[in-house]
Amino acid sequence: DWIMGDYIAEAVARIREQVGDEEVILGLSGGVDSSVAAALIHRAIGDQLTCVFVDHGLLRLNEGDMVMDMFAGKLHAKVIRVDASELFLGELAGVTDPEQKRKIIGRLFVDVFKAEAAKLKAGDGGHKGATFLAQGTIYPDVVESGGTKTKKATTIKSHHNVGGLPEQLGLKLLEPLRELFKDEVRALGVALGLPAEMVYRHPFPGPGLGVRILGEVKKPYADLLRRADAIFIEELRNTIDPATGKSWYDLTSQAFAVFLPVKSVGVMGDGRTYDYVVALRAVQTSDFMTADWAELPYSMLKRTSGRIINEVRGINRVTYDVSSKPPATIEWE
Ligand code: XMP
Repeated sequence: DWIMGDYIAEAVARIREQVGDEEVILGLSGGVDSSVAAALIHRAIGDQLTCVFVDHGLLRLNEGDMVMDMFAGKLHAKVIRVDASELFLGELAGVTDPEQKRKIIGRLFVDVFKAEAAKLKAGDGGHKGATFLAQGTIYPDVVESGGTKTKKATTIKSHHNVGGLPEQLGLKLLEPLRELFKDEVRALGVALGLPAEMVYRHPFPGPGLGVRILGEVKKPYADLLRRADAIFIEELRNTIDPATGKSWYDLTSQAFAVFLPVKSVGVMGDGRTYDYVVALRAVQTSDFMTADWAELPYSMLKRTSGRIINEVRGINRVTYDVSSKPPATIEWE
């Protein structure tokens, strides 16, 4: 552990040297890379760092509050939370095509972030404004954009990437994780005091629940999905596999619920219900290029579906996705 301590001291010195007395903006998403970058840079330069957290309204249950509690609350970092959910939901109204949804979310995300960054760059009376943009770029990202590795799934699904942003904003780039692999980033995060649940979280796509609500994205759908998804994740975390002693959350690479805008008939008490369906998806993979559906214990699936149907009024049927990639993709859109 003291080796990591040395690494932190060195990285902190390097950041201080590079930044001097200037100011830094960082886009915080709640993901591992931007979180660890924020914690490290904050360790180095404290209030010279301002994090911008764009909440597109398509985050998981309580995710925005958790990010704020951690960074503003516990680390005392400067964080600006931009609640842009109405803007995103407004622009997504009536849009059903997955790629079009990705493009809209990606474009709005960049627009909202840029507007916030421009304000911070301009500064205000007596306060000179930011000159650096920090990004949580890690070594595999560097290699990927250099073309040494085939780009992941980009030809099938366009990932929104924020390349070119520093140039557009006229800001210098600060990328303290550029030399690290994912497992090193996680270890660094833990050493910096970030909770293991945050650092070892499954990946979450940039467009968020926008691609986990099939077809048109609507606020009530997102609210139902968030609750179903949280129950599934809680059960995965709480179900320990006796053979390995690990939770099913740790035994899977990615797991989530998908909202199907389809109604089916059910029965509850003396009444008939006609409500929506969610699909549960859990996969095991090493590279996300191919993936196997996870053989979750039936008892866990049973408990999860029972809880979702009982606790989330508006959902009366739960299915489990038994498709591997290929030919299915991990996300449903
Ligand atoms: P698929 O669905 O292509 O997903 O098998 C492979 C991995 O990529 C993630 N994914 C995305 N990540 N923006 C992202 O940042 C996206 O638009 C996007 N689409 C898929 C997916 O969650 C999985 O980890």
